[in-house]
Amino acid sequence: MARPDISDSPDDWWRSAVIYQIYPRSFADADGDGVGDLAGITSRLEALADLGVDAIWVSPFYRSPQKDAGYDVADFCDVDPVFGTLDDADALIARTHELGMRIVVDIVPNHSSDQHAWFQAALAAPPHSAARARYIFRDGRGDSGELPPNTWQSVFGGPAWTRVIEADGTPGQWYLHLFDSTQPDLDWTQEQVREDFDAILRFWLDRGVDGFRVDVAHGLVKEEGLPDYTDEQLIAASIGDTTAPSPHFGQEGVHEIWRRWRAVLERYGADRILVAEAWVEPLTRMALWARRDEMHQAFNFGYLMTPWDSGALRAVIDASLDAFSRVGAPSTWVLSNHDVVRHATRLGLADVPPLGHGVGRDTPGLPETEHGVRRGRAATLLMLGLPGGAYLYQGEELGLPEALDIPAQARQDPAWFRTGGERYGRDGCRVPIPWEAQAPGFGFSPTGASWLPQPDAWGRFARDAQRGVPGSTLEMYRSALALRADLALGTGDFAWVDAPPGVIAFDNGATRIVTNMTGEPVTLQDPLLAGEVLLASTPLEGSFEPDSTVWIRRA
Ligand code: GLC
Repeated sequence: MARPDISDSPDDWWRSAVIYQIYPRSFADADGDGVGDLAGITSRLEALADLGVDAIWVSPFYRSPQKDAGYDVADFCDVDPVFGTLDDADALIARTHELGMRIVVDIVPNHSSDQHAWFQAALAAPPHSAARARYIFRDGRGDSGELPPNTWQSVFGGPAWTRVIEADGTPGQWYLHLFDSTQPDLDWTQEQVREDFDAILRFWLDRGVDGFRVDVAHGLVKEEGLPDYTDEQLIAASIGDTTAPSPHFGQEGVHEIWRRWRAVLERYGADRILVAEAWVEPLTRMALWARRDEMHQAFNFGYLMTPWDSGALRAVIDASLDAFSRVGAPSTWVLSNHDVVRHATRLGLADVPPLGHGVGRDTPGLPETEHGVRRGRAATLLMLGLPGGAYLYQGEELGLPEALDIPAQARQDPAWFRTGGERYGRDGCRVPIPWEAQAPGFGFSPTGASWLPQPDAWGRFARDAQRGVPGSTLEMYRSALALRADLALGTGDFAWVDAPPGVIAFDNGATRIVTNMTGEPVTLQDPLLAGEVLLASTPLEGSFEPDSTVWIRRA
């Protein structure tokens, strides 16, 4: 019997797609101001077609004061001048399609920027007015309202409420912001907010985008009455990583919004997709975001957070395949994005800091670069051997590690400021990527300018230093994506293969994927490895080295 989650319909492209995340500030800068832009992306798209990805996902490029690198949107239907114009967006969409790829854009519905016209109108309007109803304004506690309305903490540190000064100059109501104080939360119980977002979806669908990555898709709906939530550790330690619904994350009411959005998309055709950024656990709960009438996919953060441990990986792969298949969705796989420590560094850390805290030069137990990159490559080949959809983050195909030496005065992440430097935040994974080893700014920008400093040693990771070089990380990714397509690994049948402790082995159709996590070499005569070697993350010379993955055409 045909598997229900496999089909030949082009509408189902996303079920097995490899989608590449572009972080526009740091991908390619055409105008030389040191911040990447849309024209820069368009000019470099051929490199992604050459890499072999099916689609790109572009992080926010909308009008924004850039207090949270564009996740603070002041106009959802316009391009920020730092990134270009709407014409540049049209050109990017057209060129992506011309090259045979799809394009997914980011949408940020949980909050807007405090500079959005809606919020400015709310500030100018009196308490309890219709303009304020779009956001979550409340009177404070205490004799004169001097205390926040409840105990919630911002994901970026500090209280989740800020008090406003009313038109008459007196301290007044408080507004909720789960993130920075410049990112007020919208009130999704308001029909007006829902209608506005329907229109924003249509605006971009009309321009030809193939889908949306939905920011904070577990937020939006807050528990009625906004009850105190004292489990500060959970909220403060992470981007909303909670195992049970909290009053601000994972509320049942969010699902009805995704059903409504799905219906908006379906009118444009069954090939337009929604992917959820929903930091909820366990995976069976996360899979609820990918039900047939809701979103198509959800980022598999359970997989991303799994340490380099064969037992833990086996367990999370089983849990992922099981949880997503129960809702008829393919699992996704992801190792890096713009919020987490790059996996070429993270997987080698003795202790991974909590989500969003980042690492710096003085973090204990940092891996030595070579070792980190080697483990990162092994992890990538393991991931790309799994059936389902995979997400890549710009620069991982170059083997980039986390940037560790960003001086305090250059840092930009609000998490750094809101915690007085206690958390490094996410700047280390957002440094502009290297294109050309010998060019100023490694080819990121024609002037050599870069909004975050690039490490001097990054020339060796530059794309032009790796393209065509056998064994380079870039060539490993190119081969893996080509083989993944040829061997139909994205839609293959998965089966575990018995392996000694510390070794992970599975078959995907006729291909065997084996990862050596034992810390010791494994002999190549092992029957587990019988067959033709298709690809290896570390050259196989007599033995199968630790921290390596190999793809084998089974004998
Ligand atoms: C998401 C984004 C992150 C952003 C936050 C607030 O978690 O991925 O970068 O800071 O939402 O919008």
